[in-house]
Amino acid sequence: MARQKKSRTLKWLKRHRRDSYVRQARREGYRSRAAYKLAQINQRDHLFSTGDVVLDLGASPGSWSQFAIEKVSPGGRVVAVDVLPMKAVKGVDFVLGDITEPETYCAVDGCLGAIGADLVISDLAPSITGIRHADQVHCIQLAEQARKIALGVLKAHGSFLVKIFEGESAQEFREQTEVLFDRATVRKPAASRSSSSEIYILASRPIRPG
Ligand SMILES: C[S@@+](CC[C@H](N)C(=O)[O-])C[C@H]1O[C@@H](n2cnc3c(N)ncnc32)[C@H](O)[C@@H]1O
Repeated sequence: MARQKKSRTLKWLKRHRRDSYVRQARREGYRSRAAYKLAQINQRDHLFSTGDVVLDLGASPGSWSQFAIEKVSPGGRVVAVDVLPMKAVKGVDFVLGDITEPETYCAVDGCLGAIGADLVISDLAPSITGIRHADQVHCIQLAEQARKIALGVLKAHGSFLVKIFEGESAQEFREQTEVLFDRATVRKPAASRSSSSEIYILASRPIRPG
């Protein structure tokens, strides 16, 4: 078991060193290659506008927050949340907490105030166990919680971008999202490794009863 884990880690390190997005992130000052997944989705879907209020769920180490604050400045705001600490990003408000805990929601709500958010982005991912089904289910649970938060804080024209792992419950998550939003589509940016089962659902305009 330990040998298997060591071999997986070595493989990851080898791939990481060769990865062009890792090198690009280092050059451009992003904390992780994940920035380019968001950048590529943004290039296609124009997620951000100057002055927007953005909520970034599962934000640490912070590359999505770095990208988001660049895109909404001047005048915009980014509120970032993670259960792990995050080194400060200039202009970004950080909430340390577990998104499944009510007090984290209260802190986020307090930070956003009555205005709400134009965009909620969620790159939430559980600690990967390597047990594919368990990791997929856990990721969907986090995505469901992110969607609940998004529905609570988004403005009428707002959008929600969320990562899920493909698998059994992914289709169900997508169908539910289609019911809860006016529009929902799947995105797999080039920076997301083809070997990874991660995909992103982009939904816009929450449907509110009444
Ligand atoms: C893939 S990383 C996010 C990377 C980030 N988008 C970036 O660009 O730097 C996923 C994050 O989700 C966070 N996370 C997982 N479960 C969480 C939870 N229940 N509440 C808050 N954050 C959580 C992890 O701590 C981790 O930092």
